[in-house]
Amino acid sequence: MVSNTLTLLASELYINGEWKKSKSEQTIEITSPYLYKGIGKVQAITQQEVDEAISFAQVAQKEWAQASLQQRASHLYKWADALLANKDEIATVIMLEVGKSLNDAKSEVSRTVDFIRYVVEEALHMHGESMRGDSFPGGSKSKVAIVERVPLGVVLAISPFNYPVNLAAAKLAPALMAGNAVIFKPATQGALSGTKMIEALHLAEFPKGLVNLVTGRGSEIGDYLVEHKGIDMISFTGGTDTGLHLAKKSAMIPLVLELGGKDPGIVRQDADLQEAAKQIISGAFSYSGQRCTAIKRVLVHDSVADELVDLLKREIDQLVVGSPVNGSTVVPLIDEQAADFVQGLIDDAIDKGAVVVTGNKRDRNLLHPTLLDHVKEDMRLAWEEPFGPALPIIRVSSDEQTIALANASEFGLQASIFTKDINKAFAIANQIEAGAVQINGRTERGPDHFPFIGVKKSGMGVQGIRKSIESMTREKVTVLNLSV
Ligand code: NAP
Ligand code: G3P
Repeated sequence: MVSNTLTLLASELYINGEWKKSKSEQTIEITSPYLYKGIGKVQAITQQEVDEAISFAQVAQKEWAQASLQQRASHLYKWADALLANKDEIATVIMLEVGKSLNDAKSEVSRTVDFIRYVVEEALHMHGESMRGDSFPGGSKSKVAIVERVPLGVVLAISPFNYPVNLAAAKLAPALMAGNAVIFKPATQGALSGTKMIEALHLAEFPKGLVNLVTGRGSEIGDYLVEHKGIDMISFTGGTDTGLHLAKKSAMIPLVLELGGKDPGIVRQDADLQEAAKQIISGAFSYSGQRCTAIKRVLVHDSVADELVDLLKREIDQLVVGSPVNGSTVVPLIDEQAADFVQGLIDDAIDKGAVVVTGNKRDRNLLHPTLLDHVKEDMRLAWEEPFGPALPIIRVSSDEQTIALANASEFGLQASIFTKDINKAFAIANQIEAGAVQINGRTERGPDHFPFIGVKKSGMGVQGIRKSIESMTREKVTVLNLSV
């Protein structure tokens, strides 16, 4: 647990298998979102050091690509074991740095251990295919194609603050198991946790230079990384604005973007309202709603709206609000700017006539879970991603109106449909423009072997263990011309 005499956490660059301070001699102070004081510093890398890291990665990758799958597997298993052995320490840093409750932080580390191990197992059973030439008209039996998957080279992995270990490893593990090298750029507010993850990786004795930790503000070093000619693939998770900017900067290389969301919780008139309320509140307010897959709007049929609102309020009243040290579900947001943004959305809705059912209370970065009823389309909260504990209720009168409102969003990550009519559920799901639709469950990424997709402004490409491995490889065909 955190002692009162907090020892400052120091993070260094990890380049070519060595920890080092940046030659920039500049550091970025990390402030805890709930202690409101500095807890550590991360290095601000220079462009020259980025060049060096990428050069080391290119050299290491050539040899790593020749390593057997079993050799690669042995290193990833050691990494997973080291994460597990240091779970409590890593979880404490996650809590300090991003304000996640200790239990949620420990779960994040455990989930990451499971994720890495599953990546290995999946990769060990991903075989290519062979094709006969004579299956095509005029083709010859003497031609046989062997189709394999080969690594892309150097993967730039850029991760967000809210899962500083899990969403980073979700990129590094498939990249490495597929035979790539990695340049890892964590969110600055998350870089201390990312450093702890790399410390565990270091214990797995990967070849020097294969994995490099580069830290620094994305606004300062991000473009240089993204445009670097030594990068062969970019896997990005973060906000839509950042993703759009990055996509315009990147060259003609494979790109996977997992971005923002405005996932609707759709409640039909025939839904099990008690269960829907439980799922919606869990989906909307876990980790203060700082999840891309959080339920961020409720589209409820008029005829059951009053009853649902009462049930939602009862669920909210049971939420533990406060410090992550106390295991709270609703914790202080990542920083003051984030809290100001969410409060701005709440104020705008109230100014335009929304009704506060509960919440609209703030203590610095801590916003109490806020439920706003009678939210209309002219209110920003109807459309913008709060990434915080503010949930709008939008009343609808038909499935058609529900689908139209759901699809009018610029986002398309996930959606939840609560109904007892499975035919209606599929009929609506088939028309929702989203990567995934949950029927009678909250929106969420897991389990992690499921494909995880964002469409429209929620992303491009697919994650999920097998899909991530595929996205970090390409097919290569070897044609045998036999003399038969
Ligand atoms: P963010 O501000 O977009 O930052 C994401 C990452 O991009 C950070 O590492 C950031 O570094 C880096 N970055 C910033 N500017 C960059 C640039 N010009 N070039 C390259 N990289 C750059 O997002 P966040 O605040 O960390 O996370 C919250 C957002 O991410 C929300 O919108 C949420 O919905 C989304 N998200 C999506 C998913 C998903 O799976 N779809 C998962 C989690 C979060 P710095 O920290 O140094 O700025
Ligand atoms: O925002 C992180 C995104 O990956 C959500 O993960 O498992 O909380 O739905 P999860």
